[in-house]
Amino acid sequence: KNFPGYVDGLVRAGPSRCLLPTAYNRFAEEYINFKFRSSDVVIVTYAKCGTTWMQEILWTMCHNPDLDNPDADLDLSIRSPFLEFDCMVDVLTKKNGHNSTLVKALQKRDPAASPDAGVFLGLTKVAEDPRIIKTHLPFSILPLNLLDTCKVVYVARNPKDALSSYLHHHRLIKIHDYQGTDDQFVDYFINGQLLHGGYADHLAEAWPLRGHKNLAFLFYEDLKRDPDAQLKNLDAFLGTGLTDQQLDNVKNRTGFSNMKARMGACVAVDGDAVEGMGVTALFNAKAAQEGGFYRKGKAGSWKEDISEKNLAKIDRYIAEQITAKMPDLKFSYE
Ligand code: A3P
Repeated sequence: KNFPGYVDGLVRAGPSRCLLPTAYNRFAEEYINFKFRSSDVVIVTYAKCGTTWMQEILWTMCHNPDLDNPDADLDLSIRSPFLEFDCMVDVLTKKNGHNSTLVKALQKRDPAASPDAGVFLGLTKVAEDPRIIKTHLPFSILPLNLLDTCKVVYVARNPKDALSSYLHHHRLIKIHDYQGTDDQFVDYFINGQLLHGGYADHLAEAWPLRGHKNLAFLFYEDLKRDPDAQLKNLDAFLGTGLTDQQLDNVKNRTGFSNMKARMGACVAVDGDAVEGMGVTALFNAKAAQEGGFYRKGKAGSWKEDISEKNLAKIDRYIAEQITAKMPDLKFSYE
């Protein structure tokens, strides 16, 4: 029994049985055969682990270290495309008769681009090199040669914060429109019945690859605790050669309050408001009041969000599904 709160239901994909919208079936071949370029930087995450933060960090490092790039005000989904988002918002773009501002943004860059071939796939093709591409797909359903082709950044977050952030996300985003209880959600999470399947399964595909020279395996909590050190590591990994001043620019621009403040101000093209990711029109008002997309941005906020009873369940899940299988994988919960 899968979590029912998704437009057309969900399908299982790949050996770890990742759960994706049924429209995934239409695009699966494109994703597994996607032509990554050697200059690409791919962000692979389970949902709510700090993806958006890392997108803004990497885009700023590569394209705006001096904070003088006018494209910086464009919505992040244009600057840093979400590889498989077509299979998630297909219904929305269709409903809008393909007139969404993101389609306009795509066609401004490639007048011949057809939204039927995928608006977000189209955006990956017109994004400037080095492309900063986001995906939640686990490695097994990405191209086999991904790590031999380009650099990949995997961001992991402690499962308790990831879970509470995902619960809020399910109440926030209209496509999910989650009406269930906290307790039910915890069961969905630990049973791998949510969009993107089980977090432990996603981690289990990435963790063994952590020694690969083209993979940077990072933790949200480390980025929070010591952004300077993490940005320096990323700079070395990417070979961007940024100065201390530029790294400082990146840190400030991507700080939580700055990203939250900028969210409403993104544009798609010609000053149009955006209808893509991070758009208030896609949000449920009540959950938006309880924290919008940029909710808390902390390590350890699970303490405010999860009941004792559910914590016991989650601790058991972590012990059995994560620690027992990946004993070296240690999270910080603060
Ligand atoms: P919370 O819900 O705990 O606040 P993703 O981008 O993978 O969906 O992850 C979203 C989570 O990252 C949310 O966590 C969000 O607030 C947090 N986040 C987004 N930008 C951030 C930033 N600049 N610094 C710290 N956390 C950030």
